[in-house]
Amino acid sequence: MEKIVINGANKLHGEVKISGAKNAAVAIIPAVVLSDGVCRIENIPNIMDVNLIAKILQEMGAKVQRPNKTTLEIDPRGIKNPVATYDLVRHMRASSYLLGALLGKFSRAEVALPGGCDFGVRPVDQHLKGFAVLGAKHIVEGGMIKVKADKLVGGHIYLDVVSVGATVNIMLAAVKAEGRTTIENAAKEPHIVDLANFLNSMGADVRGAGTDVIKVNGVKRLNSTTYSIIPDQIEAGTYMAAVASAGGNVLIQNVIPKHLESITAKLREMGVIIEEYDDSIRVIKDKRLKRCNVKTMPHPGFPTDMQPQIAAILTMADGTSIVNEAVWDNRFRYVEELRRMGAEISVDGKLAVIEGVEQLEGAPVKATDLRAGAAMIVAALGAKGTTQIEDIRHIERGYEDVVEKFRAIGADIRRVYSNDPAVQTA
Ligand code: UD1
Repeated sequence: MEKIVINGANKLHGEVKISGAKNAAVAIIPAVVLSDGVCRIENIPNIMDVNLIAKILQEMGAKVQRPNKTTLEIDPRGIKNPVATYDLVRHMRASSYLLGALLGKFSRAEVALPGGCDFGVRPVDQHLKGFAVLGAKHIVEGGMIKVKADKLVGGHIYLDVVSVGATVNIMLAAVKAEGRTTIENAAKEPHIVDLANFLNSMGADVRGAGTDVIKVNGVKRLNSTTYSIIPDQIEAGTYMAAVASAGGNVLIQNVIPKHLESITAKLREMGVIIEEYDDSIRVIKDKRLKRCNVKTMPHPGFPTDMQPQIAAILTMADGTSIVNEAVWDNRFRYVEELRRMGAEISVDGKLAVIEGVEQLEGAPVKATDLRAGAAMIVAALGAKGTTQIEDIRHIERGYEDVVEKFRAIGADIRRVYSNDPAVQTA
């Protein structure tokens, strides 16, 4: 079993380069299914989720090549059967994007109900509501969602909740439908805009992405393209939080500062110095953090995927902070792990009340999901002593070369393999 071991309280210094955005990549790769040609996608992060979704397409008949570490070339023309079985998709939430992409291409799709991070009920009712407006009926049978339309025809969809997944899936299904589809109350995340730009680079006509009304004018054909995906907002935010935890002075490169505004605003409130440049930011922390309150919201609000990492640093801030998780029902499972390190946190439903302590202390902890795992790294870097993080496969789903990147900015961090049976069965 692999673990990450961190000796904390070393200041971080130097430069770190952010990889391409996971959540953009896992939407753009399935979107390639809609193309009638080869798509070259650059700035791809080399992480498990991306490799999994590329492998799923390959096993469905696409030709997938990786000419270099950050580029994928995908020829989807070999995909003839729009079916993705449970064995293929079980580990990946974003495999639900295959529903929209295959439906858009073949007017039918069968995809097993997805896995992914477990932080409460993850319904797909809004995705299905959108498909229904486009003329597709659905049934759930044998663990598979099956959708089918005689012909997809554009329509008017109002999302009852702002959903990234539903917005992506409806865009994918609508892009080749007849006529215009309007999505109201659409998600505005940077990766929604990136997906729209990618689709348009193939010849689609998607307008308004980044606002809450997206209009998709259906086109007959989508062609080959070369496209470079945006930098990962959450990976960048995690390194920002890490500097805020450990202290130091780090230049974070390959970022879009605009995408980081809500994170930057909160860290500044806590007393962290942040300098913004065209495609990089410098983060400096030289004194104890101040308390603050955080409420997660859809973009441009504070991202729920940064909630565990910001909570991790608030555990060492001066004063009492309140974290309100307003997107997911059950995203405080990591709190038990932070308590093991000496954090004082009480949770009541969607609220966590954090009494800042002077410093956390290293302890054995678990990554309960991807961002919870990132929060363990952030906490451990600021803690006194040694932290051992188990279940790091969750972290590797979303962070490229995480140990190497942190080591390069001065962290005392390593990956170790333990075959101690007591550890393995713990
Ligand atoms: C995406 C991100 C995930 C992030 C989340 C919110 C990817 C691959 N994953 O997940 O990391 O935490 O956005 O920013 O991009 N909902 C419904 N009905 C639906 C769909 C969603 O009620 O049909 C609710 C969910 O229960 C949740 C909220 O809407 O409370 C937001 O979910 P959504 O934006 O769809 O999240 P994902 O797309 O799954």
